[in-house]
Order: sequence, then C-alpha cells, then structure tokens
Amino acid sequence: MIQKISDITNEIKNFKVSSLQELEDFRIKFLSKKGTISQLFSQFRNVHNDQKREVGAQLNQLKNLASASYEDFKSILSNSKKITSGIDYTLPSENILLGTRHPVSIVRNEINSIFSKIGFVLNEGPEIEDDWHVFTGLNFPEEHPARDMQDTFFIEKNPDILLRTQTSSVQVRVMENSNPPIRSIFPGRVFRNEAVSARAHCIFHQVEGLYIDENVSFADLKQTLIYFAKEMFGPETNIRLRPSFFPFTEPSAEVDVSCTICGGKGCNVCKYTGYLEILGCGMVDPNVLEASSINSKKYTGFAFGMGIERIAMLKYQVNDLRLYFENDIRFLNQFKSAH
Ligand code: DAH
Repeated sequence: MIQKISDITNEIKNFKVSSLQELEDFRIKFLSKKGTISQLFSQFRNVHNDQKREVGAQLNQLKNLASASYEDFKSILSNSKKITSGIDYTLPSENILLGTRHPVSIVRNEINSIFSKIGFVLNEGPEIEDDWHVFTGLNFPEEHPARDMQDTFFIEKNPDILLRTQTSSVQVRVMENSNPPIRSIFPGRVFRNEAVSARAHCIFHQVEGLYIDENVSFADLKQTLIYFAKEMFGPETNIRLRPSFFPFTEPSAEVDVSCTICGGKGCNVCKYTGYLEILGCGMVDPNVLEASSINSKKYTGFAFGMGIERIAMLKYQVNDLRLYFENDIRFLNQFKSAH
C-alpha cells in the first residue's frame, strides 16, 4: 500500500497537462469515483490496524496532492493563451470580406432616390405578363412588329402570356388600380429575344416613370428630365429632345444628355456628336388613358422609360453590356467605392 501511494505520488508529480482533454484525463484517472485514489481508499479497510494511522495520513496527503495539482493545472490552462484545440482565440480576426452592390442596383437606387425627391412613389409589376398589359393596353396596333416572335419570349399563345419586354406594362397596371393624380416610377427586369452581344442582351433592366394629373404639360416633362439629368450626371449636364415614335405616347421624344466624357465638345464616346441617348418619353396617348378608364378630357400625363444598364454604362464608362451579367468579381469589385 505504502509503495503504491508513493508510486502514484510520483506519477502525479510528473504529470503534465497541456490541454483541457488532458486535464480531464487527469481528473478521471486520479480523482473520479473509480479513479486510483478512491480505489486506494476502498482498500484501506484491509490495511492492518497498526499501519492504519500512517497509511491513512499518506493517503490523505496523496488525495490533497491530486486535488491541488488538478486546481493548479486548471488555473494554468485558463491563464495560458494557447488553448488546446489548436485554435488561438486571442489572434486578431481575419477581415470579413464585405460584398459590394451590383452597379445595376447602385444606379437603380440612385434613380429611385432622384425621383422620390420630387414626389414619385415606387410601384412594381409582374415579369410574366399578358398581351393586354405589355401591348394592347399601351395602344400597340395588332400588327405592330414589337409583338413579333423575334422580340418577345412567349410562354403561352392564345391567350398570350409572355415575358414583359418593357416596364411600360406597369403603367397599365397602376392606371387600372389607382386614380389620378399618379406620380410613380417602376423599376424592373425586362426580357427580349435578342442575340447577346456587347450592345444587346436578352435580359436587362428599365425604370419607367408615369405622371398623370390635370394640366400636366410637355413643359413639366422637360423640366423633370432636366432635373433628372443634372442629378444623375452632374449640374453641367444639358439635355436634347429628338422627335420620335412610341405607340403609347403622343408626341414622343428621345432624350440625349450632353456627353458625360467631353461635356458636349465631341469625343469618341459620343461619336463626335456631343450627345448620348438615355431614354424615351412623351405625353401619354389619350387612347392609353381611356383603355385604363381614365378620363382623357380631364387628365393628361407624361411617361418616360430608360434602360438602367445604359445609364450605368454612361456613368461608369462600361462598353460591354455582357459584363453586367457575368458576375466576374474583377468587374464587380471596381464598384466598391460607389454607394
Ligand atoms: N418602353 C420603351 C422601350 O422599352 C421606352 C419608353 C419610351 C417608355 C417612351 C416610355 C415612353 O414610357 O414614354 O423602348
């Protein structure tokens, strides 16, 4: 017995603990109910009476040594910086890589905020639409080429269900569901059956604007567009309107801004014209108002529509539309500093 006590004493003295697991091993081995020390205590009753006193004292010493060592190991471990699982929790953390906003989202948010400052609210409509909302309700004649299979992705024929080719469809939905005054913008994704190239894509984004009230005039439209162009491209920006045609507006115009690179002097970005096209617009055709049960004698309105990628291309001088859809991190990373 005495020999055993002295062996275990040595074993405890030489024991080294460098992890929580080893600390637990120590406890189980020496201090648990089935550990060596409790086994010695249970053998104590077999000790001869005249040795009991000495053996008892040594056993108690051993037990104290084991408990004290356990506490020592524990406090050394908790003070030591290095914790066992191989992870040093005191090291500074790695930088978290924050994502960046996609340039299309950046520009869309900017357009939204520019128009919200002058009282436009935001509406959205479905991407899968029917013929009425994309074409017929917008005064597209039956035989209009935009209804052609070339441009439109059809999902079902007769009745036609299709992917909207323009966010103008939301105009019809908003006019159906609310009464003037209407002052709203509709951002969203549109789809066209086009071969993908640097200048065209089968998916892109538009923002549509609609303003209907009594006495809305072309001058209101023009002022709104001047305000938008200056907010978007800078206070020096000028706009130019060219007569155009859209089935849902009369008169219609295409809007150019003075070149964002040369300021109108002429450069290879604006092909030496000094201007860049940014959107289509016009006064809402009375047929369109009436198709959505709005009294065209009482109300007039204007509408405009722009491609978000187009605005982003001009703002950031990106010359290939495909870059917006490839999600190449080298491209996206360049928009870190943009808000
Ligand atoms: N929807 C037209 C397009 O996709 C753009 C457009 C032109 C929208 C004139 C309008 C507008 O609201 O008035 O090409």
